Amino acid sequence: MSDPTLPPHLETLVAEYGSPLYVYELGAVRAACADLTACLPAGAQVLYSLKANPHPALVAELGRLGCGAEVSSAIELATALAAGIAPELVAYTGPARSPEETVAAIRAGARLFSVDSGRQYTVLAESAARTGTAVDVVLRVNPDRAASGPGLAMTGVASQFGVDEQLLLDRPGLFRPKPGSAIVGLHFYLGSNIADADGLVRQFTDSVDSAARICRALGLRPRLLNLGGGFPHPYAQPGQALDLSGVRPAVEKQMAESFPGERPRLLFESGRRLVGGAGVLVARVVDVKESKGRRFAVLDSGINHLGGMSALGRLPRMQPTLLHSSAGESTVPVNVVGPLCTPLDFWARGRTLAVGPGDLIAVPNVGAYGLTASLLAFLGRHCPTELVLDGGAVVDASALVYERRPVAPVATADA
Ligand SMILES: Cc1ncc(COP(=O)(O)O)c(C=O)c1O
Repeated sequence: MSDPTLPPHLETLVAEYGSPLYVYELGAVRAACADLTACLPAGAQVLYSLKANPHPALVAELGRLGCGAEVSSAIELATALAAGIAPELVAYTGPARSPEETVAAIRAGARLFSVDSGRQYTVLAESAARTGTAVDVVLRVNPDRAASGPGLAMTGVASQFGVDEQLLLDRPGLFRPKPGSAIVGLHFYLGSNIADADGLVRQFTDSVDSAARICRALGLRPRLLNLGGGFPHPYAQPGQALDLSGVRPAVEKQMAESFPGERPRLLFESGRRLVGGAGVLVARVVDVKESKGRRFAVLDSGINHLGGMSALGRLPRMQPTLLHSSAGESTVPVNVVGPLCTPLDFWARGRTLAVGPGDLIAVPNVGAYGLTASLLAFLGRHCPTELVLDGGAVVDASALVYERRPVAPVATADA
């Protein structure tokens, strides 16, 4: 079967803005946000995980839709706040916050932090005291049970993320309240891209169940429970978001059983489910050549713009479905490779694409973990233009640049 053809509006946009080109559609972001919210318990707060795509226009749109933000760096925090997300809706996660990063984050406005160890809790409490600012803490839990079939397991296995559930149950005194930093709840995030809807539901209900056990051991009446996410979405291949309508009734039931009479606010985190379907990458075929019985389509975009973490072996190799503009099928399998000076730079091997020089190729469902999850600076090629559309009309056109700046020695005294 031949791949689908390229939607005509993408050809027009490339004619105007050049190639390679990322195109994001805000209408798709709005639809995804409404769809996800409808699957979650009533009153739940969705946090957008900026790691999926920190483009300011996408973050701002999600902020307007009522999403908070899950950030794990100073730049993500600044992006979320600049995009208009209220500081009280920003959750700062990550296992390696230095005192400097923590103090800077508090000064920038962050008030809710997830901590992964006793030492990180101490760093946070000391930073809160140093800035004279009260902060809220959620303890990230590494539960005993792993999620079934996550694309990328983060807890439930030995991990730098979260405090082992058993440690919390055995030594609750490690996490006594400290002045200026109250533990207001727990945080779970077992893994991303859990493609089995039942498995996804189960990891939420298991998390609620272990939250109740841990809260009892800590003597904690939680104000917040961040149940994380793992909401799946097709990546670099066609497809629709999975039906997750089973999440809401199952989590509401488990909450009523595990936290009777209490109403901790539920938070959920999502990146790919909110923006994955909103993006497409278009690249041009620069050359088609034969080598030792194989055909190569050489593009102007590669692992520097998409799929870089796969190329490094950090994630499974993507299997992109490429939309293309020539009709028909190639009789010869084609390896679709990028412009970089490394044989690691390929998107697909053995594809039946009929392409010639000058043709355009598009990879759908790459609104999440596209550009900024790639090897942007490797081999020094320009970043592609990123277009943001709303209802098909261009509302933003920009490109990232990287630059070198002189750096002075780090000051030793507390500024
Ligand atoms: C703590 C945490 N929250 C949220 C996410 C977002 O994941 P996704 O984009 O799959 O929704 C991740 C991804 O690794 C994560 O580690």
